[in-house]
Amino acid sequence: VKRPRRIAAGTGREATEIWFGAGLLDGAASRLISPSGRFLLVTSRGPRAAAERIRAALGGHLLVDLEIDDREQAKTLDTAAVIADAALSAGVRRDDALVAVGGGVVSDVAGFSAAIVLRGIPWNVVPTTTGAMADAAIGGKTGVDTRQGKNLIGAFHPPRVVLADPAALEGLPEREFRAGLVEAVKAAWIGDASLARASEKTLDAVLAREQEPLLALLGGAAAVKAAIVSSDPREGDLRRLLNFGHTLGHAFEAAGGFQSLKHGEAVAWGIAAAVDLSRRRAALSRRDGERILRMLDRLGPFPEPEREPAVLEPYLLRDKKASVRGVAGILLDGIGRPKIDESIPPADWLDAAARISFAG
Ligand SMILES: NC(=O)c1ccc[n+]([C@@H]2O[C@H](COP(=O)([O-])OP(=O)(O)OC[C@H]3O[C@@H](n4cnc5c(N)ncnc54)[C@H](O)[C@@H]3O)[C@@H](O)[C@H]2O)c1
Ligand SMILES: [Zn+2]
Repeated sequence: VKRPRRIAAGTGREATEIWFGAGLLDGAASRLISPSGRFLLVTSRGPRAAAERIRAALGGHLLVDLEIDDREQAKTLDTAAVIADAALSAGVRRDDALVAVGGGVVSDVAGFSAAIVLRGIPWNVVPTTTGAMADAAIGGKTGVDTRQGKNLIGAFHPPRVVLADPAALEGLPEREFRAGLVEAVKAAWIGDASLARASEKTLDAVLAREQEPLLALLGGAAAVKAAIVSSDPREGDLRRLLNFGHTLGHAFEAAGGFQSLKHGEAVAWGIAAAVDLSRRRAALSRRDGERILRMLDRLGPFPEPEREPAVLEPYLLRDKKASVRGVAGILLDGIGRPKIDESIPPADWLDAAARISFAG
């Protein structure tokens, strides 16, 4: 077995040690960090195979062993309170550490609980979806949704350790698996041209869930995000680049009532639109645009998005990057060469939405 890859994110008290490799689940006891040696396990039903292996690895050191509802509708203050209550009832101390085993919903809400219990206890993440490995587990943002919108309450509270083992993906439905990979290739397109090229060659093996190419893509994506958040921990312009594909992506997702399209699927359509606009407003070549669309086509098929301008427009204008100058977006001058365009007219976005397809 190859040795795991180590990726560093953040510095000082906000440093995260990120590990990508096969076999990490069973060796978790030697990598997960708890100053006291005691852990609070928070997981959900989906990733029970991974949770069972973490439970076995941590043996008798579990102060709390809690399964939460991980539907997006349950990513709430109420669920954070359930976790906090379990921790406090068990007599949690500031040197005990939480371990979240699950997808982004579990890590967002469990990480938020870790941020507020005793004003902050250390925590670790074992991501069990492709999206969590490439994206949600990296960067230190934690939080919950409210009825006003997604992720409106939260905290920056980076985990000490992220352990990403492809074995944790066992049981992950195919549609979730593919949707998460969209975020992984997104990271390559904004930050690592050679990863983008390599993943074009290995995508069939990745889709067959072969460990080595899967680790290379997900670990490469995590490294892109880790580098970006390390130089921009609090959401400046650099971190905005991670929103490639998300301006229209969010609008597609919301216009579908968060039902018809998964987040990653909506982002795939959003990237197609950003490619279209990059051909018109940035220096992206036809060839590189086609390479991106071809990858998305291979990651699909994705359900059709809402294209009706009158339906889409209110969601587009609700975007936090909307201003009198237009709706900002991330465009590409080439693969690995992103830039922010602050003033894209709403009509141009809506025209792109009506035009896009992965066939180019
Ligand atoms: N904090 C961040 O920076 C950040 C970044 C991106 C996304 N997010 C958040 O992450 C969430 C989405 O996370 P996600 O894409 O990981 O999906 P998810 O957590 O919603 O999980 C998707 C589904 O997969 C199931 N599942 C998870 N692991 C499984 C496994 N190994 N086997 C079988 N089923 C499994 C879950 O039970 C769930 O039904 C959103 O709430 C989003 O806001 C956060
Ligand atoms: Zn996203």
